[in-house]
Order: sequence, then C-alpha cells, then structure tokens
Amino acid sequence: MERRSFFKILGGTATLVAANPLIVGTLYAADGSNSMYRTYGKVQLVDESGKAILASSLTKETPYIFNYPHASTPCMLVDLPEPTSNDIELVSANGDKYIWKGGVGKDRTIVAYVAICTHQLTHPTKNNSFITYVAKDKKTVAYDRSGIIVCSAHMSAYDPAVGCKVLGGAATQPLNAVVIEVASDDTIWASGILGMDIFHEYFTDFKDELKEFYKKPALAQKLVSVSAKTVPLSKYTKEIIQY
Ligand code: FES
Repeated sequence: MERRSFFKILGGTATLVAANPLIVGTLYAADGSNSMYRTYGKVQLVDESGKAILASSLTKETPYIFNYPHASTPCMLVDLPEPTSNDIELVSANGDKYIWKGGVGKDRTIVAYVAICTHQLTHPTKNNSFITYVAKDKKTVAYDRSGIIVCSAHMSAYDPAVGCKVLGGAATQPLNAVVIEVASDDTIWASGILGMDIFHEYFTDFKDELKEFYKKPALAQKLVSVSAKTVPLSKYTKEIIQY
C-alpha cells in the first residue's frame, strides 16, 4: 500500500491529516515526504531455517536483527525486562509529533526499531556493529544506566521503553520504530515504520557499502515480503563494538 494513501488532503491545500491513530497533529508536506508512518508488506519473523519465531521463545534482553522493510535495512528486536510505557509522544528532527503505541506481547515487553542511528546512520553490517542493546546488568559510558540502545560511533543513547527517545549523545531524534504485533499463535509480524524517513539518505550515503554486500542498488532496496530472517545480533555481525 502506498504511504500517501494513509493521508487525506483537506480543502485542496497541502495540509495532510493522518488517518492513522499512530500519528497525532497535522503533517505539512506538499508531497507527503515527511509523513511519520509508512506501511509496508506484512512479514513474519522467522529463524534461519524459516521456522516461525515465537514471542515466548525470545531470550530476554538479547538484540535480534532482521532486515525490513528493505533487504538491506537492519532492524533490532528486543524483549525488554519490563513492560514499556504506552502512547508515548515523540518528536522528529523537523518537529513533527507522532505517537509510539508501546511494546507488544503478553507483557508489552517486545519492541523493534530500525537499527540505523539517526545521527550519522551507523548500522550493523556483516563485519561489525557499533549499535546494540546494552542489557541492564552491563555498563555503557554513553549514559548513566543500561537497558538502553547505544550507538558507540558517537555515544548516542536511546530508550527502547519509550519509543527510543534520545537520552544523550549526538542524535537529535528517536530511532525509527518498526510497527510489530504478536498474533494469537505467538508469532511475530512487522508491517510498517514509524518516524522520519531515513532510508533515502541511507541508500545514498552507503551506496558503496551496499554494493559490496548486495551487488546492485535494486537488490539492496528490494522490499522484503512474506518473511524476514531474524537472528541474534551476535550472529548477524562478526564484531559488536560497545563502549
Ligand atoms: S552515528 Fe550513531 S551516534 Fe553518531
């Protein structure tokens, strides 16, 4: 579904009002390019063998990576130690407000975010990852408590329990959130992205790197369909760098 179909134009002006409950306020964009919520194909999270990952099988406080909505855009799934807050108001770098609904699963502890730092787009690759979840019993120099997501490139700290609001460091807006749900059979599904679009910049800035891993831009930008392979970050990358 095209993202612009989620907005209706009022009175023929360029004012767009979100028809989706995840967004509050009014978005202003002549072309809809700053919309805060984009739907993509609904995909199921599966393990390396293609078997459905069940919410109850996740290891607490372990960061998992799946690529969504594009073949080369890594997202981080974490089962947090405590329930998240609900209906958190977030603000993008350009001032747009939107609502993150909260964690999913029976205890509302499961969250997913695009693992591309909103500062300079640092992200996990097969070789290394400067971005990770720091479990509550671990330490980080990025902030005075753990249980947070840290990008050690320039020490940005994000709080995954409140929509990945920025706690400190160079980042000026939350990580994009992945809209996920846990179905009645305990399977996990992704269906959209919440937050200011960073993918266009990512594909431009990392053109050479993506060519190395995905050969052609079209393959890197290909939309994921049906299912997304989900593995622990420690398997996705050779080295996790965390300060
Ligand atoms: S790129 Fe993540 S803090 Fe700079």
